[in-house]
Amino acid sequence: MSNQLLAVCLDCGHTFDYIPIPITCPRCNSAWLEAHYDYSSLGMALPASLYHRPFNLWRYRELLPVADYNPDLTLGEGGTPLVRAINLGMMLGCPNLFIKDERQGPTNSFKDRQAAISIYALKEAGITEAVLASTGNVAIAYSAYAARAGIKLWAFLTSLVPIEKMREVAFYGTQVVKVTGSYDQAKQVAAEFARQRDLYLERGARSIPSVESMKTIAFEVCEQLAYYHDYAGKNALTESNFDDSSPRLVKFQAPDWYLQSVSGGIGPLGVQKGFFELKEMNLTNRIPAMGNIQAEGCAPMVHAWRKGEEVAEPVKVPRTHIATLSTGDPGRTYTLLFQRMKKSAGGVFESVSDEETFHTMHILAKMEGISVEPAAAVAFAGLVKLVRAGKIKPDDVVVINCTGHTMPVEHDILGDGWSKDVEYPSQALGETPQEGLLAALSRITPDRYALIEIVDDLPDARRLIRRVLQAQGEYTLLEASNGSEALEIAQHELPDLIILDLMMPEMDGFSVLDALKSNAKTGAIPVIVVTAKELTPEEEKRLRGRIHALMQKGEFMSDELMDEVRSVLD
Ligand SMILES: Cc1ncc(COP(=O)(O)O)c(C=O)c1O
Ligand SMILES: [Zn+2]
Repeated sequence: MSNQLLAVCLDCGHTFDYIPIPITCPRCNSAWLEAHYDYSSLGMALPASLYHRPFNLWRYRELLPVADYNPDLTLGEGGTPLVRAINLGMMLGCPNLFIKDERQGPTNSFKDRQAAISIYALKEAGITEAVLASTGNVAIAYSAYAARAGIKLWAFLTSLVPIEKMREVAFYGTQVVKVTGSYDQAKQVAAEFARQRDLYLERGARSIPSVESMKTIAFEVCEQLAYYHDYAGKNALTESNFDDSSPRLVKFQAPDWYLQSVSGGIGPLGVQKGFFELKEMNLTNRIPAMGNIQAEGCAPMVHAWRKGEEVAEPVKVPRTHIATLSTGDPGRTYTLLFQRMKKSAGGVFESVSDEETFHTMHILAKMEGISVEPAAAVAFAGLVKLVRAGKIKPDDVVVINCTGHTMPVEHDILGDGWSKDVEYPSQALGETPQEGLLAALSRITPDRYALIEIVDDLPDARRLIRRVLQAQGEYTLLEASNGSEALEIAQHELPDLIILDLMMPEMDGFSVLDALKSNAKTGAIPVIVVTAKELTPEEEKRLRGRIHALMQKGEFMSDELMDEVRSVLD
């Protein structure tokens, strides 16, 4: 396959053959360069090459600034799973949410892609010592790859980086330099250090290998989405995505939205370039809208976007606990993103508070089984916000980059009292060890749990509510899948609360409610209605004064239901 790689200067337009590192434009000396490939021939040849290659970042090597694949340097980067967010999707009323799980990279963040390609380029260029500034994860990822490649690394970290991350960087043999000050200041110190020592400095968005690495997220996502045949009829993919004569994929599938948390913005910049290239190669037919989400306390891009400005004014003092996202001055990266979003299917810059982030992070763990670090959770909090604002529509296909792993912030989120302590019993007189243990355990459980009956004909809906209740409290749960079963259980068990669906075949929720209320035994049991039905005024009247709360399916998060449950049971 041809791999004619060119560098194009973003300032004067000069085009020249790409060389790995360190490069500036030979005509105007600009450091803002972009890689260009021969897209028409690549588009034709790529599907056949991909068919024979394992699912990792290197399967797209012709679209990367690498001369050859060096198996000695790889740590298994790329090829992360795309998982469907079933429960989050049900809560938000958006069934087509997909999580690109970048936690599953070698050092647990999407920065592994950047490190793999950049360290590869350094090695190719014969560089053996390098300098970078980081908010944490870049330093961790580069440190791992530098260790493998035999490159000495200096990592300048702002003192706000959690100590666990710093330790991890040092653990790989990197020299950590802690800079008391902001991330932007740490960058200045690193640049000055590199200049004085004449060492290679990692330049983020001004480094072709760094930006190019991020494209592989777009490539993978669009390949992976093409294999989901069944997402709610929306863009449902058919055999036409495959070549008749072989199971080879010939069309990729771009999502409607791609969301990611943003600090310096190299992630979205590279991913967006990947989406453009797929379209250019005729492998997809659209560019997704970008949802670039920043932490409210450090959101220079969001401020500029709201004002419609192409240049972001730096935030001098970031005010967020999420140090990973504390780039105060995004520089030209914002401008490039802005211009490309205006050119393509658009999107938004949005910000979320630390509280919203921690909150969503906890929901994601409890409801989806995915534990992420705050910097990654920002994207999910942004998702909730964009869905609620109606920007993301119910049938949109949305991919959220789950950019990184959990860091120990549990104390902030869980507060105290989340564990129960059992002291192993010393044996009391006349007691067997078994009896002592039982007594010790009985001290941590109440005599009786509140009894809640869940009534819904749809097993998935029952499962979601069961999960909400299981994850946030201790209850005895009963389930009924139709109206008559619901009444039978209610009369026998006298639950403390009934969570009732309205639309059920045979006997609907209104009739169940009538029967409950007209029976002396069950008339006083509180009822929370959870329904997908748009109520008519007449129907609202039938419920008024007879139920504790009305909740609309697909429009509430787990803890909002819990607030209602607790207000009944307390
Ligand atoms: C986990 C995580 N998410 C998101 C980001 C933001 O990435 P970007 O540099 O693309 O703005 C980072 C940056 O380090 C990160 O580590
Ligand atoms: Zn130039």
